[in-house]
Amino acid sequence: MGRTGREIVKADINEVLNDLLQAYADEWLAHYQYWLAAQWIRGIDADTLRPVLMKQSMDELKHAEKLAQRIIQLGGRPVMDFAKLLATSRCGYIAPPEDPTDIKRVIEDVLKSEQCAIRFYNQMVEKYRFTDVVTYEVFEELLEDEVDDEEEWERFLAKL
Ligand SMILES: [Fe+2]
Ligand SMILES: [Fe+2]
Repeated sequence: MGRTGREIVKADINEVLNDLLQAYADEWLAHYQYWLAAQWIRGIDADTLRPVLMKQSMDELKHAEKLAQRIIQLGGRPVMDFAKLLATSRCGYIAPPEDPTDIKRVIEDVLKSEQCAIRFYNQMVEKYRFTDVVTYEVFEELLEDEVDDEEEWERFLAKL
């Protein structure tokens, strides 16, 4: 990143990178979790749910992209070793249920991931609001999306 771009970051850059990396890993795992659930599910509601899971899966990948760009901008590296993604993440990964017709479980698990992301990003927004405006804006944008996602899934769950 440019010198002035670095200068305006009042927060500790290593700490910022550490937080961004955790979020980056979370987004990749959410992307994979939703994508795999979309492939796996079966039953009457599966056809309605599948496109929603696929769409949100792609949204999480776009989130990972934004985080990757900010990490690189700050002079860091996104997780290069795929095997380290889980250990780097904060919210983790939930595998699809054994029973592919258990749509309720799939949605509950997605909601757990979204809720973890909302809490995490809200902390990040508060943490970097005055110390790293660019990182703050990345987290703020993601937070808004995850709040929308949660609402959408809660509506789905209510209809089941
Ligand atoms: Fe996300
Ligand atoms: Fe999300």
